[in-house]
Amino acid sequence: MLPQEAIRAKRDGRALSAETIGELIAGIADGGLSDAQVGALAMAIYLQGMSPAETVALTEATRDSGEVLDWAGLDLPGPVLDKHSTGGVGDLVSLVLGPWVAACGGHVPMISGRGLGHTGGTLDKLEAIPGYSVTPDTATFRRLVKEAGVAIIGQTGRLAPADKRLYAVRDVTATVESLPLIVASILGKKLACGLDALVMDVKVGSGAFMPTPEASRQLAETIAEVASLAGTPTTALLTDMSQPLAPCAGNAVEVREALAVLTGERRDGRLLEVTRSLAAEMLLAGGLAADREAALARLDERLTSGAAAERFAAMVAGLGGPSDLLERADHHLPTAPRVREVRAPRDGYLAALDTRALGLAVVELGGGRRAPDDPVDPAVGLTGIAALGTAVSAGDPLAVIHARREGDAERAERRLLAALEIGAAPVAAPTLIQDTIR
Ligand code: URA
Repeated sequence: MLPQEAIRAKRDGRALSAETIGELIAGIADGGLSDAQVGALAMAIYLQGMSPAETVALTEATRDSGEVLDWAGLDLPGPVLDKHSTGGVGDLVSLVLGPWVAACGGHVPMISGRGLGHTGGTLDKLEAIPGYSVTPDTATFRRLVKEAGVAIIGQTGRLAPADKRLYAVRDVTATVESLPLIVASILGKKLACGLDALVMDVKVGSGAFMPTPEASRQLAETIAEVASLAGTPTTALLTDMSQPLAPCAGNAVEVREALAVLTGERRDGRLLEVTRSLAAEMLLAGGLAADREAALARLDERLTSGAAAERFAAMVAGLGGPSDLLERADHHLPTAPRVREVRAPRDGYLAALDTRALGLAVVELGGGRRAPDDPVDPAVGLTGIAALGTAVSAGDPLAVIHARREGDAERAERRLLAALEIGAAPVAAPTLIQDTIR
């Protein structure tokens, strides 16, 4: 079908066949469709939506628009598994989960992204480690996935190229917030990694990508359904992002937190709980545990024995980072020269927290980007962020700012004080893991 006829059909609310969707996506990848046609198609889909069958076809066509990783030749002894998150603040799950699942027998070829808006990016965090390369050659990537069981790297131009162009057009045509487009975009990239199973972490709350709890649930349900129909069994967890997941946000500070969890220094907290639950789902999906209880027992043993930390160290060294990061983290990870505590203005309870504003404060400190090509300062960020419901007395620390300059620290302090609400009555923190959708 001519592109303009397909766009007309969607504009008028008619369903597109899988064949037509395949032609459109191929035209987006190879330049056969003009930018105007890509924008018009995105708007037609935004306004008219897509049926589940159309969304599956869109996802499969996006996946197949470039290279699809094939692990068959490597004779891997375990399943190929991955996790994807809709992103958040203090969400360093990937850094802990990848090596942890690898230590349990999974193989995790994790293609991650950079910070977007107020959310942090796994690649920016890993680049806080001196020497770590997020763009290794294919042979190194495959060797690490086989031998260390995990490699976290950046997207190459060969993976789902149709999404790269479509996303760039959506970004400037007010068509990002479309369920079928979001689902095909996320899954098209992930399913191109040749996975046996995928686990999704869909965030809910003031720091989440989706604007309401209902929209987050709908995304989780649609992703689980579409990915499974496209041949990759997928489970989605709905998890709370109404406060940062870890008590820190930034790049080097989050790598330090990952090391604290992996080495057993930090034995509790929301980050560990969410990571453990997602990892258990991955072991179950990959057939590495008979039931949830067995999965959790295996995970706990592999963390306590130091096996997960060893996998992290092997990945870092294999991608050009220091071979003694675990032993000498303070030597290798950068620190910011200005440190300032944000103190509670009065007695009470931490009643509410604008997670998005905290993420933006990190961006303003230089830990994220204002423009796509901006450099990121790995050293800046926040630590010691108080949890929702914490009882505080006036003057108690609510967070610690790590800044490059005094003026940056002062601005961040004002932003944080506006984002943290102290109430008179005790409050309960929201449920962390709200649902599991299979
Ligand atoms: N993340 C993606 O990769 N694509 C979207 O459309 C939205 C979030």
